[in-house]
Amino acid sequence: MEDNYNMNTGPLWSLLKSLLMFTVLCVVGVVLYLPMGEYISQWGESKYSNDGLAKYTEERASVDRGPDVVDGIDVASGMVYDENFKVVKATCTSCHSSKLIIQNRATREGWKDMIKWMQETQGLPELGTLEPKVLDYLSAHYAPEKTGRRANLDIEAIEWYVLGQE
Ligand code: HEC
Repeated sequence: MEDNYNMNTGPLWSLLKSLLMFTVLCVVGVVLYLPMGEYISQWGESKYSNDGLAKYTEERASVDRGPDVVDGIDVASGMVYDENFKVVKATCTSCHSSKLIIQNRATREGWKDMIKWMQETQGLPELGTLEPKVLDYLSAHYAPEKTGRRANLDIEAIEWYVLGQE
């Protein structure tokens, strides 16, 4: 007589099946973790969490990028780059765009007047010891351009003559 003990449904078999299932899941877990482990372990410190943001900002600040200068021009501001550039950028671009500066031309006196005007009417503070540097910079790089036009005629100096009619 066949006993009603069946190898495929007995308690031992179901224990083995559970063990086998567990082992397979472990192996799958390890295999998946291997390529993605670094990615997964960074989840906790995403740059959108507070800790992550601080770390991210610190990392960025620790890299001294310096200005990105192409052909003597600082790319971000469009301003000429020289030893006074940083002072001028810090002094002059907090209220308005650097474009306002680079599209203007003036002599040293002219720049001084503009600065004075901003101080009197727009709340620009005294520049103190920085003023000479700022004026050096502006008058060197944003001086009035020599125009391509000929100078006006000096009427007094012209020797006029009458066209003959022969
Ligand atoms: C406290 C804020 C402030 C600072 C800092 C500042 N400016 Fe200005 N500036 C202004 C304002 C406001 C105007 C008028 C803007 C407008 O008309 O839209 C202006 C206008 C100008 C103009 C245009 C003037 C014109 O006649 O059209 C120039 C050029 C200029 N600034 C250069 C500079 C320079 C160079 C510096 C650095 C020394 C500087 N600014 C710093 C506020 C400032």
